[in-house]
Amino acid sequence: MKINGTAYRTIWLNEDGWSVEIIDQTRLPHEFVTARLTRMEDAAVAIRTMQVRGAPLIGATAAYGVCLALREDASDEAMDAAIDHLADQRPTAFNLRWALDEMRKAVRNLPREERVKAAYERAARLCDEDVETCRMIGVHGLQLIEEIAAKKGAGEAVNVLTHCNAGWLACVDWGTATSPIYQAHNKGIDVHVWVDETRPRNQGASLTAYELGAHGVPHTIIVDNAGGHLMQQGAVDMVIVGTDRVTAAGDVANKIGTYLKALAAKDNDVPFFVALPHSTIDWSLEDGFDIPIEERSSDEVLTMPGRLPDGSVVRVEIAAPGSEADNPAFDVTPARLVSGLITERGICEASAEGLSKLYPDRD
Ligand code: MRU
Repeated sequence: MKINGTAYRTIWLNEDGWSVEIIDQTRLPHEFVTARLTRMEDAAVAIRTMQVRGAPLIGATAAYGVCLALREDASDEAMDAAIDHLADQRPTAFNLRWALDEMRKAVRNLPREERVKAAYERAARLCDEDVETCRMIGVHGLQLIEEIAAKKGAGEAVNVLTHCNAGWLACVDWGTATSPIYQAHNKGIDVHVWVDETRPRNQGASLTAYELGAHGVPHTIIVDNAGGHLMQQGAVDMVIVGTDRVTAAGDVANKIGTYLKALAAKDNDVPFFVALPHSTIDWSLEDGFDIPIEERSSDEVLTMPGRLPDGSVVRVEIAAPGSEADNPAFDVTPARLVSGLITERGICEASAEGLSKLYPDRD
């Protein structure tokens, strides 16, 4: 997608052919800054500190982290240690584990001297595949937006509500939840997005709004608690969110607050769709409550960054001094609250049957 007229992916190789460039998402929306990763630990830190975030992009960054690790030491022991270390950085996103498994499969049977080249090839392919997968999620999800648009009067926008950032910044390009929206907008369909601010880190207000704005998609930021009210007012035609892990039975882990949106959507007969690539499906789990939920620092709840009129970006305290805070980063939406899963292979029911029909060849 484009920023100021220049097409970007979220991760790419530097012109030196081996170091890795990322967009530093901790600096958005106030500054567009890229960062260069030269060691495996740089990739681990980028994932842990959320310079890169969003399940597919975490996976892509970890894949390049393995490449950087193998440059330093291509032994089995070093590779296993790097993979374990990268996997430990964030617990909920399944794409991280999937990407690391793919990297291990790509190099494990090769002699040491061939491993670095093979790893870079697999990481590059993994990124290209993610772009195509997300594009196809958009192709399928577009049908849903078109169906709603067809029922609306002239000049009436299709209103989509989304939570967190499941946009191109969370993937390599296109995004998952945003891909149908970008494709509808590109096709000339009048689409408007309600962007949940997504406390505590505000990925909606700072990232989703940033990327939709850069692409010219009409959108409005709302506080997280406004969604239910807007649904009651008939102002939301559908909800599309992303996910960090989907179980084989269709339960969905996503950014904290997603479950409440699903409940409100159910109560108001608003379709609630989840967009995901195959790499997000954890076929080993049935029950969503077995998904590990990341606990993050209470600082994210008690403080907030912002830009002052002089342009400087500072972090300020927003809570009663001395109060403690709890910060679970994800929640689980049971499959029964999900209208459908939008994947690169099509749309299916959020159920074991629905998923296995789309993925009869699953690994
Ligand atoms: O903590 P984050 O910002 O990594 O959480 C991101 C989300 O919850 C996204 O919705 C999810 O990763 C899907 S990304 C296409």
